Amino acid sequence: MEAFSYYNPTNLVFGKGTVSRLGTLTQAYGKTILLVYGSGSIKRTGLYDEVISQLQSIDATIVELAGIEPNPRLTSVRRGIELCRSEHVEFILAVGGGSVLDAAKAIAAGARYDGDVWDFMVQKATIQDALPMGSILTLSATGSEMNGNAVISDWETKQKRAFGSKHTFPRFSILDPALTFSVPRDQTVNGIVDIMSHVFEQYFTLTTNAPLQERLCESILLTVIENAEKALEYPHDFEARSNLMLCGTLALNGGLISVGTLDDWASHGIEHEISAIYDIPHGAGLSIVFPNWMKYVYRERLDRFTQYAERVWGIERGSKSDEELALAGISATRAFFTRIGAPATLSFYDIGEENLDVMARSAVLFGPIGNFKKLNQQDVREILTLSL
Ligand code: NZQ
Ligand code: ZN
Repeated sequence: MEAFSYYNPTNLVFGKGTVSRLGTLTQAYGKTILLVYGSGSIKRTGLYDEVISQLQSIDATIVELAGIEPNPRLTSVRRGIELCRSEHVEFILAVGGGSVLDAAKAIAAGARYDGDVWDFMVQKATIQDALPMGSILTLSATGSEMNGNAVISDWETKQKRAFGSKHTFPRFSILDPALTFSVPRDQTVNGIVDIMSHVFEQYFTLTTNAPLQERLCESILLTVIENAEKALEYPHDFEARSNLMLCGTLALNGGLISVGTLDDWASHGIEHEISAIYDIPHGAGLSIVFPNWMKYVYRERLDRFTQYAERVWGIERGSKSDEELALAGISATRAFFTRIGAPATLSFYDIGEENLDVMARSAVLFGPIGNFKKLNQQDVREILTLSL
């Protein structure tokens, strides 16, 4: 195990009816609040009215930024930063899925920075300060509710880039699983794949002697697998939705499940290139890419893949060789994704070979990606080709 330090300041407020604590939680941070949300799901579910009434109960001045896009755009972030400056915003409240939360984090950091917020995404500057932000999560997927990361797209240049900072952890995140009852089937599927992929990025490591971290990863994967089909069949199953929600948070909350190990993140890097150009949902892109990444790299550490097959998918070794067992685990991953309705090929979105080189080049812009196997431009292109 490697040396590590772990930091996570987010106050997680989990459970049915917890939106009723919004006023009290917000009070500490000021009265002028930027309320950031998406394209209307929170209005359809009634959550918007509840939020407004909570904020009114503490006499807040509410400034609204609606219409944050899935794969949130730099233009929306810039609009939010202008609002923070012109309206003297003291606190940012994000209500929605990962896109809304990410946009709010970028706004929070950009509002306390004299240069252009994109500098943070292209490693031209590091975040030194940010407005405080909090969230109400409505979709289980990204872990953005308890981490300092944000992923923003510049639609003009077709770039999707991320930053992570200790200054952009939500001060609090309210997670009421009932708020996810209304998430449509396809978005629920995307979220499930994203949660599992976050675990994969940390589980497939070259670090040895980290049995607790391995089991933390495996327990999240098993819990997601046990609850995924329940939540898809019965979208109002509170327990299934609760379990998925907690898995989503623990899968990517500042690296708890991978402390002391070397995580990978190449598949995320590759997926971000696809959604940067084609604007497909992040989870769907991961469903296409991840099993192909697995096929491309599994020989780097066969024992990790055989352990995955046995412990996560319950595949018996029987007379299988290590290689056959490893491949059986990878096939089980693809079969599960297909069973819940996640796509397997880029052609599902009519994506062909036209931009493979552009995507592969952009993925390695800052150098080779991944740690399980360091991928160069040619490697990325081959994984994309396998994904066609
Ligand atoms: O815009 P609204 O109307 O709210 O609708 C959204 C959106 O259309 C809808 N939705 C959300 N909650 C709902 C709901 N519909 C009905 N009922 C509800 N309760 O779902 C759609 C997708 O929302 P989005 O926020 O885009 O989904 P997700 O949470 O999967 O976020 C994806 C974004 O997060 C980034 C991705 O790259 C992508 O841009 N990621 C962020 C990470 C992070 N901050 O740590 C890590 C991830 O790996 C990921 O890269
Ligand atoms: Zn992800």
